[in-house]
Amino acid sequence: MQVVVYVEICTCASTSAGVMALLDFLRWRAATLLLLFVAGLDCISVHIPNDEPMYVIPDSTLVLRAHIQYGSPDELTGVTWERRPESGVPDGRAALATCPGGSPPQPVQCTVTRPNVRASLEEQASVLHVSHFAKADAGIYAVTVMSKAGQSSTALVIVREYEAVHHVSVSINVSHSSLVCGEAWGTEPQFSWLHERDAVTGSVGRVSPDGATLVVTKVPICGHFTCVVSNKLGYSSATYTAAPCESGGISGSTVAVICLVVLQILGAGLAFLLWRRYRNRNRGDRLREHLDDNI
Ligand SMILES: *[C@@H]1O[C@H](CO)[C@@H](O)[C@H](O)[C@H]1NC(C)=O
Repeated sequence: MQVVVYVEICTCASTSAGVMALLDFLRWRAATLLLLFVAGLDCISVHIPNDEPMYVIPDSTLVLRAHIQYGSPDELTGVTWERRPESGVPDGRAALATCPGGSPPQPVQCTVTRPNVRASLEEQASVLHVSHFAKADAGIYAVTVMSKAGQSSTALVIVREYEAVHHVSVSINVSHSSLVCGEAWGTEPQFSWLHERDAVTGSVGRVSPDGATLVVTKVPICGHFTCVVSNKLGYSSATYTAAPCESGGISGSTVAVICLVVLQILGAGLAFLLWRRYRNRNRGDRLREHLDDNI
């Protein structure tokens, strides 16, 4: 999994949009950041293109790339990476890597504090790798860049574990003839509905835009309704079982069989009538012939 985070320390041209988005993104840290920006009003700007939290599949490698901008290479005195808890203890910060200053012609390996972390400093960029990503590696990742003039700039990104779908359940809302699919957790859940193992069509019901609710139009509600919730790690499903459908209505094939039986009975009846008429006529003819012979 590769994600790019841009951190820019440079001219003050672009303090507006990116900074506002960041402040909005980190409401509770707004005051701190504001101080930071006021202090470094000379020339520090931070820009994070993806301000959504990132989700990392367990055991994969998280790659964060920070883009650093400065007036001249020797302004940069150091880069640090750290992880902060997303919630809970505010001082649960963990230093991950420290990189020396300057702008090296070749990438320089930084000093790291964990065996699964690797960091490097390149020309105007710093890259952090966290391999075998686990739940404990989730948090707010912060990269801080310091300048000779005593300015610093920090970029933050929320990193979470990508979780499989668990504990799907389906409940019925009787008053609104709808089925609600709930999943206790799972990242980026995608919902789909089946009725008796076939995808739900307009004759059965319609699915809400978010996919979690099925408004059933089939009357009466019968059969098995299954909600399947999936994401990159797999899927989980749950089924709501209503009364069996056979009792509710007559299916097309049943109608066809009944028609066939009725036609056969009619045909047999007609054949019998014709046969009886034919036999009676024959018998009458033979009687007449017999009488004629005797006369
Ligand atoms: C049924 O659905 C309606 C409309 O979505 C909702 O307002 C109501 O609270 C639901 N009832 C129950 C029991 O969940």
